[in-house]
Amino acid sequence: MTRGFLLALLCVGLPATAAEDRGWTDGVPARNAAAVVSGPAEEPTITLPRELRRRVKGPTVLFYFAPTCPHCRHVAREVQALAVTLDGRADLLGIASGSSAPEAVAEFRATFGVTFPIVIDTDRTMGAALAIRSTPSAMLVVPDGKETVKVQDLWYPYMPGYDALVQGRVAGNMFAAFNADTYMGNRACGVCHVEEYEGWRLSHHSVAWRTLQRADAADDPKCTGCHVTGNGAPTGWDGSPTSHLVDVGCEACHGPGGPHDGVPTAATATCTGCHDADHSIAFTLDKGLPLIDHFVGNTLSEEQQRERLLALHDGEAQRELLAFPEADTVGSAVCATCHTTEHTWWSRSAHAQAMSSLDEDSATDPACVSCHATPRHMGSTPPSTLEGSRLDEGVGCESCHGPGGAHVESGGAAGTIQGLGESCPVCVIEAVCTSCHTAEWDKDWSLDTHLPLMKHTPPAGPPRPKAP
Ligand code: HEC
Ligand code: HEC
Ligand code: HEC
Ligand code: HEC
Ligand code: HEC
Ligand code: HEC
Ligand code: HEC
Ligand code: HEC
Repeated sequence: MTRGFLLALLCVGLPATAAEDRGWTDGVPARNAAAVVSGPAEEPTITLPRELRRRVKGPTVLFYFAPTCPHCRHVAREVQALAVTLDGRADLLGIASGSSAPEAVAEFRATFGVTFPIVIDTDRTMGAALAIRSTPSAMLVVPDGKETVKVQDLWYPYMPGYDALVQGRVAGNMFAAFNADTYMGNRACGVCHVEEYEGWRLSHHSVAWRTLQRADAADDPKCTGCHVTGNGAPTGWDGSPTSHLVDVGCEACHGPGGPHDGVPTAATATCTGCHDADHSIAFTLDKGLPLIDHFVGNTLSEEQQRERLLALHDGEAQRELLAFPEADTVGSAVCATCHTTEHTWWSRSAHAQAMSSLDEDSATDPACVSCHATPRHMGSTPPSTLEGSRLDEGVGCESCHGPGGAHVESGGAAGTIQGLGESCPVCVIEAVCTSCHTAEWDKDWSLDTHLPLMKHTPPAGPPRPKAP
């Protein structure tokens, strides 16, 4: 189970705030919500250059951007869709930054099918009047005096998913855009749910798509469904690798729009839709829930958060092995009676010899032994004492196949032990191996290269020569 991450947590000391039933840290749901719902405390009046002011005839969203800036291009389609959705309730005016060449603006328009008007801030007075700090940014204004407008809200910078907030502000109800069956994306939630969003980013769910890319399976429809949000739903993930609905986001568990579309979803009932018996064997809510602590960010220093995010990004973050049911092991010798061939080939493997790689000191150090030998009990925490491991057998059968007592007792009945053959999904095999083959101990880990090296059945064809 937890080898590095929980240990690291224990070392820095658990937070003063007691964990509750779910195993979660204390936190403030929707910490930022009040500010977002109410908007700016007052509606400041600002003076606009005449060229700009005369275009503000009613409520207007000013979208300040640079046609070549990648962040602007990233939200371009969303903003175009927003312009259409606003449908006259507010205008949307694009303002291209001073350095924009007209050809670049034309290219932007064509590439993203832009239909809203765009002016170029040639003399940079517009950016100055709007106090633009970065692109893209957006501001909602309504006409005021002859040269002035009132600022109703601003989104500096404008992030993907903020279209929902703009719609909400225009409608005078921040949840106006949260309709049943419309997926909003994590950013739309995170703007109010700051702590939950941080906690989510620190979880494996936030890199589920990257994991698929790393496994070279991001274009395989057999794989994508559970590694994205809203697969198959009309407004859910659209099949694109750049969609903001890749990864297992808020709405994968809380439903489209969260509870704010008026349809609350029991989040705890969604897990097994993806964590099914084939892809997350022996998953239980009890095991899984503490690991999605929404407020885990509150227990980590900024430095630790940064390290964790980097590790997640690189696929090196420690993960819990949810795989095995809770039970005692029986030892590899018991398996030999029926699986003579496997036992023979296994006993020649590096796994069977794993204890002899340890020197005298480390062979009595539970921290080393926990990976180099089979635990006596599986399914909960890894052994913390020497007595907790089978020192005589190294990485035995049950380290990979799970506790075998029920299997042995039933004489090998189907479904009593974890097979890891052809029919077993990559998710499970990879999870089993990388619970020991961590980034720390096996930098060059790759399932493709390692799996064939540990086959414990003779290959098809002429018999392999006996190992010395
Ligand atoms: C404009 C601010 C805002 C946005 C945007 C927002 N929420 Fe909320 N959310 C709130 C507030 C306020 C509460 C009530 C918090 C409380 O109970 O203390 C809440 C409560 C919740 C709850 C708990 C409900 C319950 O009954 O316990 C969930 C779950 C939730 N939001 C999910 C989401 C998701 C998912 C999204 C994005 C699709 C989202 N929220 C977007 C403000 C927001
Ligand atoms: C839309 C599918 C989906 C849903 C719904 C879902 N998960 Fe997951 N979960 C995944 C995928 C995919 C991963 C693997 C992510 C990765 O490592 O790239 C994962 C990983 C995890 C992990 C492993 C993280 C670790 O630290 O080892 C835990 C724990 C987990 N999920 C718990 C839950 C719980 C609890 C629920 C329900 C409240 C849930 N999941 C709902 C798809 C889902
Ligand atoms: C893997 C599933 C999953 C994902 C992803 C997820 N949540 Fe949750 N969330 C849960 C579960 C489970 C609960 C606890 C529900 C309960 O106790 O009944 C919860 C609780 C909450 C609550 C109530 C807080 C509380 O203390 O009870 C809020 C608010 C919330 N989630 C918001 C979010 C937001 C925002 C995101 C995205 C940034 C998100 N969640 C992502 C599963 C998930
Ligand atoms: C009493 C005889 C017996 C013992 C002891 C036994 N097995 Fe089995 N095992 C079987 C039979 C029978 C099958 C099903 C036929 C087959 O696939 O070979 C099987 C199948 C398996 C499979 C494949 C399961 C699948 O779904 O693909 C694994 C893995 C396995 N055993 C591991 C073990 C391990 C580990 C032990 C020791 C803890 C063990 N067995 C002990 C008889 C036994
Ligand atoms: C319980 C921990 C554990 C599990 C689970 C585990 N391994 Fe290992 N593995 C080790 C240890 C420890 C060694 C080093 C053995 C030695 O030489 O001391 C090792 C060595 C190896 C080696 C030989 C190393 C080399 O460079 O030649 C291969 C190949 C290997 N493992 C593949 C796998 C695969 C594939 C899986 C998943 C099916 C897996 N391992 C699961 C702990 C584990
Ligand atoms: C998280 C699981 C894990 C822990 C904890 C662990 N090891 Fe290992 N160890 C491995 C794996 C996996 C390998 C195989 C690496 C490879 O294939 O390159 C390995 C390989 C080794 C090797 C090299 C074997 C060889 O001949 O190539 C030595 C020596 C070793 N470990 C010693 C230790 C010591 C000493 C400790 C305690 C300080 C320790 N290990 C703790 C997983 C672990
Ligand atoms: C390092 C992890 C690991 C260890 C240790 C291990 N196995 Fe396996 N086992 C696998 C994997 C992975 C497969 C599927 C790939 C293959 O055929 O080699 C497998 C396949 C099998 C199968 C065939 C299942 C099938 O689906 O066809 C049996 C039976 C089996 N193992 C029994 C054992 C026994 C008995 C031991 C101990 C003597 C053992 N295994 C030790 C990982 C392991
Ligand atoms: C039914 C839903 C589902 C499907 C389909 C699915 N996965 Fe997963 N995948 C999961 C879940 C759930 C996890 C987390 C497992 C856990 O930690 O228990 C996961 C985890 C993973 C992991 C991380 C394992 C690790 O521990 O490092 C990889 C890699 C992966 N999946 C690849 C794939 C590939 C490749 C496919 C297509 C062949 C696929 N997945 C199809 C649900 C799914």
